[in-house]
Amino acid sequence: MKITLSVIKADTGSIGGHNKPSAAMVKVAHEQVDKAIASGLLVDGRVTFTGDDIALLMTHTRGVDNSDIHKLAWDTFLETTKVAKSQGLYGAGQDLLKDAFSGNVRGMGPGSAEMEIEERAAEPFLVFAGDKCGPGVFNYPLFEAFASPYHNAGLLLAPDMMAGFTFVIMDVNNTEADKVITLKVPQDYYDLCTLLRDPNHYVIEKVIENASGLQAAVASTSRLHNIAGKYVGKDDPVAIVRSQKQFPSTGEILSPWALAHYTLGDNRGSHHVAVMPVVQNSIISYFDGPTIMSAAGYCVHEGKLTEAVDYFEQPFWDVIREKATLKTLEMRAQGFYGPSMAGMDELEYTGVMENLKRLDAKFEVREHTK
Ligand code: F6R
Ligand code: MG
Ligand code: MG
Repeated sequence: MKITLSVIKADTGSIGGHNKPSAAMVKVAHEQVDKAIASGLLVDGRVTFTGDDIALLMTHTRGVDNSDIHKLAWDTFLETTKVAKSQGLYGAGQDLLKDAFSGNVRGMGPGSAEMEIEERAAEPFLVFAGDKCGPGVFNYPLFEAFASPYHNAGLLLAPDMMAGFTFVIMDVNNTEADKVITLKVPQDYYDLCTLLRDPNHYVIEKVIENASGLQAAVASTSRLHNIAGKYVGKDDPVAIVRSQKQFPSTGEILSPWALAHYTLGDNRGSHHVAVMPVVQNSIISYFDGPTIMSAAGYCVHEGKLTEAVDYFEQPFWDVIREKATLKTLEMRAQGFYGPSMAGMDELEYTGVMENLKRLDAKFEVREHTK
């Protein structure tokens, strides 16, 4: 059966600062999704949150970029915004950057990752949802899971996977239109590394298996900064990854997250911290962070979802959380110097730029050194 998996997420308001949506907001989102299941628009759906972002996981038969599905998500976020406003929550409607819905949430603020698949007899997949980070957070773990035998032992051991994978990479700085490049591993391995080393500029949009042509993964690629022209919160991306058989195993997909890699995000979207793997529905705290990522596993059958397995709940990840804390504290100890804070082109607030202009006027050129 052909089924579409859609994850659409948005920050529409939060208790405290940018910490978590209220229970009333989540309840309203549940009601909207349940109504859409009852009406037949959705086959199934789930509502979760990660930090201050609410994510709707929806299954349906309408394909990707379907305007009814996107409208459902948009309207749901309008409803959660109403609740946030009525409760006086912070940042109510933060990610709803346009006044009127125009057929698709892309470019309007909410993030979306969608994939139409022909369901396999058993169809396991993972949903990743992050807060206080940009879509480039997936560069390291997705590339490693699909291209590196360090994590994906199947590339050496499983004949099904030996032909490797194709990556579609988006240049997220090109705001006029989608600008993408398609590269394959193993052939284009170094070219891929050349792009992915800059995760604020080039991000993985899709992964496709070479042997079968089946799509394995999709990530949201929106950059709120690029849509709004100013800082309106980090992008807080989501991704869907299929697992097992011709794809990496679930554990191979999770393996790279044990690095607790550094990414740009955290406080004011402008600091490098280590990604902390967390359980679903986790909150934000230290330094408006740390950057967090949840991973939920499901099987989908004729569009119906199982309950989730919350991967980062397993005790193994306790040590990784501690490692992420220590790595983040080490970086934070350096405050605003060098790599601790974002480089000039990625600073999400304008204060430094404005000050530099003022200070530049006060610089004096020593005449005799000309
Ligand atoms: C980062 C984030 C927070 C805010 C910070 C200031 O993505 O959401 O670190 O940038 O709390 O928020 P405002 O500008 O809303 O006062
Ligand atoms: Mg926010
Ligand atoms: Mg957020």
